[in-house]
Amino acid sequence: MSAPATDLRAAGAPQGRRQILVTSALPYANGQIHIGHLVEYIQTDIWVRALRMHGHEVYYVGADDTHGTPVMLRAEKEGITPQQLIARVWQEHKRDFDSFGISFDNYYSTDSAENRELSESVYTALRDAGLIETRDIEQAYDPVRNMFLPDRFIKGECPKCGAKDQYGDSCEVCGSTYQPTDLVNPYSVVSGATPVRKTSTHYFFRLSDPRCENFLRAWVSGLAQPEATNKMREWLGEPGEAKLADWDISRDAPYFGFEIPGAPGKYFYVWLDAPVGYYASFKNLCDRLGLDFYAWVKPGSKTEQYHFIGKDILYFHTLFWPAMLEFSGHRTPTNVFAHGFLTVDGAKMSKSRGTFITAQSYVDTGLNPEWLRYYFAAKLNGTMEDLDLNLEDFQARVNSDLVGKYINIASRAAGFLSKRFDGRVQDSAMQHPLLVALRVAIPQIAAHYEARDYGRALRQTMELADAVNGYVDTAKPWDQAKDPANAVALHETCTVSIEAFRLLSLALKPVLPTLAAAVEAFLSIEPLQWSHADTPLSSQQPITAYKHLMTRVDPKQIDALLAANRESLQATEAAAPADAASKAKAKAAAKDAGKNDDGASDTISIDDFAKIDLRIALIVDCNVVEGSDKLLQLTLDVGEGRTRNVFSGIRSAYRPEDLKGKFTVMVANLAPRKMKFGVSEGMVLAASAADEKAEPGLYILEPHSGAKPGMRVR
Ligand code: 2FM
Ligand code: ZN
Repeated sequence: MSAPATDLRAAGAPQGRRQILVTSALPYANGQIHIGHLVEYIQTDIWVRALRMHGHEVYYVGADDTHGTPVMLRAEKEGITPQQLIARVWQEHKRDFDSFGISFDNYYSTDSAENRELSESVYTALRDAGLIETRDIEQAYDPVRNMFLPDRFIKGECPKCGAKDQYGDSCEVCGSTYQPTDLVNPYSVVSGATPVRKTSTHYFFRLSDPRCENFLRAWVSGLAQPEATNKMREWLGEPGEAKLADWDISRDAPYFGFEIPGAPGKYFYVWLDAPVGYYASFKNLCDRLGLDFYAWVKPGSKTEQYHFIGKDILYFHTLFWPAMLEFSGHRTPTNVFAHGFLTVDGAKMSKSRGTFITAQSYVDTGLNPEWLRYYFAAKLNGTMEDLDLNLEDFQARVNSDLVGKYINIASRAAGFLSKRFDGRVQDSAMQHPLLVALRVAIPQIAAHYEARDYGRALRQTMELADAVNGYVDTAKPWDQAKDPANAVALHETCTVSIEAFRLLSLALKPVLPTLAAAVEAFLSIEPLQWSHADTPLSSQQPITAYKHLMTRVDPKQIDALLAANRESLQATEAAAPADAASKAKAKAAAKDAGKNDDGASDTISIDDFAKIDLRIALIVDCNVVEGSDKLLQLTLDVGEGRTRNVFSGIRSAYRPEDLKGKFTVMVANLAPRKMKFGVSEGMVLAASAADEKAEPGLYILEPHSGAKPGMRVR
């Protein structure tokens, strides 16, 4: 049950008050926080909290990663500035992190004055060290939009199977991989134009320089994770192999980011200023708190610096970032901790299955964020293995471990203690062997947290909870309470139980901070620190009346969560016809989530409405569809520089020539739908009576004059 004491040293037991800077990867400012992100933020937060509980000086900083082409284009699509977009997304991200108890000391933005200044100074130092060079390279260019196209903004037909609308690197239909130049009939996702090749001057960080290679070979030996070390060795190759490639750090205008000093029209690639954003966030915090930022980041600083990241961005954090820091006159990271990806019920998160779960939907569905913190923690072991959220196991574990084993201890003991003993513990019971064993285990559990083996910390905690429950089952306080002659024994049982509960709460505090705060209030004690293992409850400080601390997961909540995240019930059923049972289940779940039987909501929030991207469309062309007596084929201009193809069931109401040249309203962000006659890329809106049989007639919407293609309807 208990680990040998030597484990403590192995995990790096704290010596004195350490100064520690911790980061999680900065989320992009063009999407919502989902449970995949939360694996990382929860993991980092638990670590930070566990270290703070030693009394160390710990700062946990984050920021939104704001720059780059996707943010620029999305803002344009929404008809707002990038700054407006990132300000809105920042609020959403901050709200989600707060909901999940992510205790950032500062949550900032990479689009900040501090980041501009630091990125420029890192760059100029690298340039002065002779580590920047320019080179002309040829890339895909959109001749209509006048911009270079990142690979993900080029689509075309798969060179192997001919599937349409495939990205430049791989085909989602046949699974083959290829180069963007292999695509047949490539087009720019931005304008629809055929990309051309164009040459431009780019700035490179010379990672291939022997100074960088030699530095990285030495730096790699300090990495904590063997998998990360192996990856690094693979990238570095054998000495003399010269495997490291230079890194292209510039992008041409138009680009949302920082212009490179002395290089008009050239911008720092987002990945150059993103990690510098860790320092910018910390600098902003230091300036507010009056801390000496440079003392933390100068070479040879005694402070510690850790980065938690996903395994997909190891390359950036173990090659580019340490080399950037080393050769720009900064200290380098103490360590980088990478984790694996999240799957849900054994599969990649999926919008159609409803397992692409956003942080907000989880909270809105009424699930307790600490349940997820506990579940992730129980499965994390400090390696890069992928982690599965099995929804049945999630319910079972939370209900049996947290409620059944842990909370149950307090609810069994507190009533007698309050009613029979005025809420006061029996001081003489505090050296009971069970409590001594618990106190010995606390530093071991703290060390497991520090070693990022949260699974082990929680297994040990739950074994101790089992032992406490065994003790209560043997002592039988409910029998002891029947005879006043057993008062002393009953007092002892309740005291041991409640002190054990305090110690278990201490062990769980990094994972369940909100619950721990409620326990501290219930027991009338100071915020728990690791050193408080040896400060037992005292009869001088009576506990307060017990109020229920945590409820069980209700399976209906899980159904509602999946329903809330299912992109479109209809779209899912069309894509993969559901069997009757799962259809019924989906319907029931939708009902529980506050919806009517027909899937329509009684009310929706303004955020729900904002998800629908309604746009003014010009009907450029309209034709009948051979073989269909219901459909018309519309060619729509939605102000994107290309047209969209939409099939609409309005043939009974309109002749094609009557619609050509008219304006209407379309849903622009409906997932494209493959139909017998081709792909439909949206939907036009039309009014009809509730009972179309009794009162036939279809009327498409038409805006007042002055509306232009692409205008947003809201
Ligand atoms: O992969 C990502 O989501 C990036 N936005 C992470 C950036 S981490 C850091 F370098 F800023
Ligand atoms: Zn293919």
